[in-house]
Amino acid sequence: MMKTPLLSVKNLTIAYQSPSGSFAAVDHLSFSIKEGEIFALVGESGCGKSTAALGFMRLVPEPGSICSGEIEFEGRDLLSLPEKEMEKVRGRRMGMIFQNPLDSLNPVYTVGNQIQEAVVLDKITKKEGMKKAIELLRDVRISDPSHRASNFPHELSGGMRQRVMIGMMLSRNPKLLIADEPTTALDVTIQAQILDLCKDLKEKYGTSILIITHDFGIVAEIADKVGVMYAGKLVEVGEVFKIFDQPLHPYTRLLMKALPQTSKKEGRLKTIPGTVPNLMNPPTGCRFHPRCPFTEQICREKAPPMESGGEDHYFACHRKEAENGSHT
Ligand SMILES: Nc1ncnc2c1ncn2[C@@H]1O[C@H](COP(=O)(O)OP(=O)(O)O)[C@@H](O)[C@H]1O
Ligand SMILES: [Mg+2]
Repeated sequence: MMKTPLLSVKNLTIAYQSPSGSFAAVDHLSFSIKEGEIFALVGESGCGKSTAALGFMRLVPEPGSICSGEIEFEGRDLLSLPEKEMEKVRGRRMGMIFQNPLDSLNPVYTVGNQIQEAVVLDKITKKEGMKKAIELLRDVRISDPSHRASNFPHELSGGMRQRVMIGMMLSRNPKLLIADEPTTALDVTIQAQILDLCKDLKEKYGTSILIITHDFGIVAEIADKVGVMYAGKLVEVGEVFKIFDQPLHPYTRLLMKALPQTSKKEGRLKTIPGTVPNLMNPPTGCRFHPRCPFTEQICREKAPPMESGGEDHYFACHRKEAENGSHT
C-alpha cells in the first residue's frame, strides 16, 4: 500500500497586497513530500520559494495571505486548524531554519541557555537541561560543546550558528525540517559540512527535509526529489536523478547550467539572461516564454499544463518530450 505523504500541498495560492493591487507570489502550487525524503525547492530569487515555505507554516507575513488551496500535514488539514493547534504543529512537528541564523538567535543569552529553552518543554531540572543542550551541540558536531554552550551567538562562526539552529529544531524531534537557503551565507567548505549534517540527521532521526536553494550543486549533494519554481509556479518536479538525467523544462536546464563554477578561482555564478518577471503583470501564456530559447506562438498564448514526463516526473512546457530530450 502506498503511504500517504507527510506533506501534501494542492493548488496553494498565496498573494501579497500592494498599493497597485495584489499579486500571487505562489500560484496553484501542488506537490508532496514523503516521510524521510529530502525535497529541494529550486528557483531564482523572487520565484516564491520562501513565501511557499512560510505558507506551509501558516506564517506568511502581512500584507500577504493564503488565498486558496490545501495543505495536508500528517493527515491533518492545516488551513482549517485553529491558530492554537497550529502553534503546536510549528513548535513540535514542523520546524524552520533561515539563511541568517543570527536573526533567529537571541544575542543576550548564551547558546546553551537558548537550546535549553527550546529543549525543555517537559519538566526537567536546569542541570539536566544543560546536559541535554550539550548533548545536542555534540550531535550537530560542535567541538568542545560544554565550552560552546557558555558562548553568546556572536562568539560563534556562521557555520556553528547554523548548526545550533539545526540542533534546536531537531531537539523537538520534528517530522519536517524546512531549511530556507541554510547555507547561502556560508563558504563552500562549511556549506558541505552543513549538508552532510542534514543528511546524517535525516538518517538518525528520520526527519524529512524541505530545502530551499537556488543552487543545483546543493540539490545534487543532498536531495531525493526536486521541484523547480518559476515566477510563482512549479514548472518541473521529479526524482533527483531523473531531473539530472533528463531535465524537461528549459528553465530547469538553464538553472542547472548556471551552477556556480566552484572549480574556477573567480567562482562567479553564471546567470540566465533576463530577469524573473514582475508578478503584478506576469507574461501571458508560459511565464518563462520571454526568456526561453525555444519560444513559439503557443507559448505566448497558452499556459502549459503539468504533464507526465515519465514515472514520478512532471513538467509544464509546450515542447514535446522527444524534442526536449534531443535538445540538451
Ligand atoms: N513581505 C512581502 N511583501 C510583499 N511582497 C513580498 C514579500 N515577500 C516576498 N514578496 C514578493 O513575493 C515574490 C516572491 O518572493 P519570495 O517568496 O521571497 O521568493 P524567493 O524566496 O523565491 O526568492 C517576490 O515578487 C517578492 O518581491
Ligand atoms: Mg527566499
